[in-house]
Order: sequence, then C-alpha cells, then structure tokens
Amino acid sequence: MEDRELYERAVAIAGRAYAPYSEFHVGAAVLARDGRVFCGVNVENAAYPLGVCAEKTALTRAVTDGCRPGDLVAIAITASPCGGCRQWLHELGLERVTYARAGGEVVTTTPADLLPDTFEL
Ligand code: THU
Repeated sequence: MEDRELYERAVAIAGRAYAPYSEFHVGAAVLARDGRVFCGVNVENAAYPLGVCAEKTALTRAVTDGCRPGDLVAIAITASPCGGCRQWLHELGLERVTYARAGGEVVTTTPADLLPDTFEL
C-alpha cells in the first residue's frame, strides 16, 4: 500500500475521534509488513491527561493483534506526532511516518528524523 493511500485511511477514520475537549480530531493508520492495516483515533477524557493519541491507539491495536517491533512498516497521522508518540514510533521500529504538518502539508519522513539521538537500554 502506498503512503498516500495509508494517509487517506487515517483521514477517513479521524471522524471517529472522541475529542469533545480539544475538538482536534486525529486519525492514524498503521501498515504491517504482512499487509494488515490498523486504524486509531484520539480518545479524550474529562481528566485531561488520561486522553490517548490516535497513533497510540492504532499502534496498541497492532501490538494486541500480534505485531512486534520490525513488523510495522509505515504509519500515517492526520497531525504532527507529539513528542511522546515519536518515542513510540522509534520503539516499534516504524520505517516511514507520513503526517500533516501544522500548515497542512503532508510529508513522509522517518522516526529518527522526528526524534534524533534516542537512548538505548
Ligand atoms: N493528538 C493526537 O492524537 N496525536 C498527536 O500526535 C497530536 C495530538 C491529540 C491528543 C488530543 O486528544 C488532541 O490531539 C489535542 O492535543
């Protein structure tokens, strides 16, 4: 699947976001090496810090269905990934990240470009 098509999947799912506080609806779609696609949205909570980002919900679905670091090829996100999610992209070994920059431009890059100089345990 092309990155552009994966991005369209992220746009399509964004409408299911539960974001009554920020009204910032985000969608994400993850492509596994075997062709499976896992989608996610942000889910907010009245206790604000408890909300989860769209890319985390997509990635947790992928891991729940058996994917491990190295099994995930690409992710598309309708927003620029937050700092914490960049660490998740690094951890799970994504190869490509397509996302919409603040101005609306859609770009494709790597987790290393988004989060350089990561630590290793
Ligand atoms: N959000 C995401 O879902 N992904 C990101 O990487 C950026 C931020 C969500 C979290 C929150 O529900 C809303 O956008 C506003 O920050």
